[in-house]
Amino acid sequence: MPQIAWIGLGNIGKVLCENLARYGPKSTRVSAWNRTHSAAEELAAQVENIDAVSSLADAVNNSDIICVCLSDDAAVKDVFSEIESKASAAVSGKLFVDLSTIHPDTASAVAERVHKLGAEYLGSPIFGGVPLAKNRQVTLVLAGPSKAISRFRPFTTGVICGQLICLPDKPCAHAFMLKLLGNFIRFSAIATLAEADAFSEIVGLPPEALEQFVGVVLQGAAVGQLQGLRSGEYHKTGKPNVPITLWNKESSHLVDIASKCGARLDMLSTVASQGDRVNENYGPGVSLLTIFGLVREQCGLPFET
Ligand SMILES: NC(=O)c1ccc[n+]([C@@H]2O[C@H](COP(=O)([O-])OP(=O)(O)OC[C@H]3O[C@@H](n4cnc5c(N)ncnc54)[C@H](OP(=O)(O)O)[C@@H]3O)[C@@H](O)[C@H]2O)c1
Repeated sequence: MPQIAWIGLGNIGKVLCENLARYGPKSTRVSAWNRTHSAAEELAAQVENIDAVSSLADAVNNSDIICVCLSDDAAVKDVFSEIESKASAAVSGKLFVDLSTIHPDTASAVAERVHKLGAEYLGSPIFGGVPLAKNRQVTLVLAGPSKAISRFRPFTTGVICGQLICLPDKPCAHAFMLKLLGNFIRFSAIATLAEADAFSEIVGLPPEALEQFVGVVLQGAAVGQLQGLRSGEYHKTGKPNVPITLWNKESSHLVDIASKCGARLDMLSTVASQGDRVNENYGPGVSLLTIFGLVREQCGLPFET
């Protein structure tokens, strides 16, 4: 069984790492490294099969597959630069699986550096937040060489995720582009529900009318989404599952890509600036769902439901 390293034990990283150790193929052991070492020690104390490793080079050198789950592009660049400079043993033959949400160009550049070292790189961003991760129900997108996908597959469905979207032999950048586009659709849908709901309240439509339409015509996740927003989950929950900063990062990547392509995307511009206003008005620590409160205030309604 390959030795696994897990780099990055933030909100979602630590949950996925724990699932890998608990539900991975028999005898899976995970060497966990985090910039702030105490997070690795705490996780290793709680979960069998996880060893806290204090040196990034040791985590990489002792493993065959290295999963990386870091906050943003700068963090990913920092960690791969350190791996290049400090990994004393050959990195050749190892597989890096990057679960961070980053700009597709960053991923392509990192993949090139990794290939020069004789190793492989899979783009593997995650759809779904911490509650879904705890239930092993997130969706992973995998793009890269099909042999690399096969190598990582035993650690995916039923272990750290519920579903896979595989893009075999496609550039790793495709996985990150899909992740950004997917979240563009999701955030736009929330913003649209928010505006429709505020508009409906202002014009005096009974609340059940919109809810019935959403249930009968849109169905699926939209029903729970509207009910959750109306119940005020965006202002009642303490620590948000998904902070607005994640959407701010993703929308700025999307705006950058669209401008490089010369594509005019009005909806993207709107939801990117709505996300920026949520951050400016209520702070970077608030939930992405705070867009519902922002729209209410912009319509002259109270922030809270
Ligand atoms: N949270 C979600 O619901 C969710 C859902 C889907 C996708 N994602 C994506 O998954 C990734 C991880 O998310 P998260 O929620 O776990 O993030 P997070 O809680 O913000 O944790 C960030 C991790 O990156 C590390 N880090 C930051 N800068 C670093 C640097 N320069 N060098 C080394 N390590 C560094 C942090 O280490 P320290 O502990 O030392 O700060 C921490 O382990 C992100 O790209 C995010 O967009 C998150």
